[in-house]
Amino acid sequence: IHREKVKSLLETEEFNREVTVMGWVRTFRNNQFIAINDGSCMGNIQIVVDFNNTPEALLKRITTGAAIAVKGTIVESAGKGQRVDIKADSIEILGDSDPEKFPLQPKKHSLEFLREIAHLRFRTNTFNAVFKVRHALAFAIHQFYNERGFVYMHTPIITASDAEGAGEMFKVTTLDLDKPPRTEDGQVDYSEDFFARSANLTVSGQLEGELAAMAFGQIYTFGPTFRAENSNTTRHLAEFWMVEPEVAFADLEDNMQLAEDMMKYIISYALKNCREEIDFLNNRLLEEEKTKPQNERSELSLIEKLNFCLDNEFERLTYTEAIAILKSSKPNQKKQFKYLIDEWGADLQSEHERYLVEKHFKKPVILTDYPADIKSFYMRQNEPDAQGRKTVAAMDILFPGIGEMIGGSQREERLDKLTQRMEELNIPTEELWWFLDTRRFGSAPHSGFGLGFERLVLFVSGMTNIRDVIAFPRFPKNAEF
Ligand code: 4AD
Ligand code: MG
Repeated sequence: IHREKVKSLLETEEFNREVTVMGWVRTFRNNQFIAINDGSCMGNIQIVVDFNNTPEALLKRITTGAAIAVKGTIVESAGKGQRVDIKADSIEILGDSDPEKFPLQPKKHSLEFLREIAHLRFRTNTFNAVFKVRHALAFAIHQFYNERGFVYMHTPIITASDAEGAGEMFKVTTLDLDKPPRTEDGQVDYSEDFFARSANLTVSGQLEGELAAMAFGQIYTFGPTFRAENSNTTRHLAEFWMVEPEVAFADLEDNMQLAEDMMKYIISYALKNCREEIDFLNNRLLEEEKTKPQNERSELSLIEKLNFCLDNEFERLTYTEAIAILKSSKPNQKKQFKYLIDEWGADLQSEHERYLVEKHFKKPVILTDYPADIKSFYMRQNEPDAQGRKTVAAMDILFPGIGEMIGGSQREERLDKLTQRMEELNIPTEELWWFLDTRRFGSAPHSGFGLGFERLVLFVSGMTNIRDVIAFPRFPKNAEF
């Protein structure tokens, strides 16, 4: 079928040409003007129907949501706001849509409502824009690493290890959990399980990524990761996509530079290649801002925020320096933080991260050298500071409106230090023998990080809930679609 896309028809200047266009009806006014959209862009093309010569039975079936095919001629538009219309010669209904039952009406729906009908929300302009931006960001990531000679690795989804050591894993099993086979002493007998051992969905591709980096020099992964953490927030998903570069012969400094370069590259790619979508999302936000009281409105528009990230160096400081700033900050002094910062060693909550980026520095911030006790086992141990406090060569990159966007570190490449740390944390060294082998055979300094892809999409699209930037969000008590 030779069909033309709405996007190219809206830009065409060839009047009187015969075309076929297919799409879904958005509105049908006065039995005469059909607005259809085919997903190629956010705009609609207007079809002009000669209703005197169109059977009533057919007119009745042109309802919001129906799929139709139109053959017609490109004509100059009589209406304002568009250049061309299609004068219909014939209309075919491809799929009816009962107007009594179709949940999307030609009006503004709330994001909460659209979340309930995630299988249909792609058909709105907002979600058209969001998922086009998501696509462009994914493409830009591959292009960025490809240009730099990184190898794209597909790491396993099903693993036996807990890369973060945080115990937030979904189990994968073929056992009948209602009556699992048991050993003589009453334990679940995993020898009858598919893998003959307990297995789970990966929380991160990092450990396997490290193995590959220690052969290819520089690799990245980009795949789904899973966390069974019970976080019902606008920043957490149970299934999210992560981009994880890993580089041999690189230290924390190199790691920070790579992350900053990557963020700037992909944001500027999106600004160049999704200008229409980002303009649309920008206006959407401006409208929303108008409904808020003056003092709650954000200082920068979405586009200004994105450009601001491109034009400024990310602020770099240590955890210890950040704690000093937070301790003497107004919200801490006035007890406005939910968690008050009183001593070194505490993990930062998102309210603290957001204070640093949004109020104090007003730009992306890279925090480094966190206390060892609040970070993962594989991070490289720093020399204890003057007061004997232990830190690791970690980095978190914090973004305005988001908080933690990236988490990474230089890795502990010294076998003795790594095994000692694992023992302290009760992480079984024999189970990770293959991981430790990289430290046994040609170990070298190396570094990497993980970018939460949905948090990136959230930032660039200006959406506020992470459930609105992934097609079918997985979160506690929700796996409907
Ligand atoms: O900080 P995290 O847990 O780091 C790792 O998993 C490392 N293994 C990465 C590495 O060094 N290769 O997660 C990395 C990022 C976070 O900064 C955050 O952006 C995102 O992943 N993230 C989540 N995004 C959505 N929902 C969740 N539940 C997330 N947990 C982490
Ligand atoms: Mg983290």
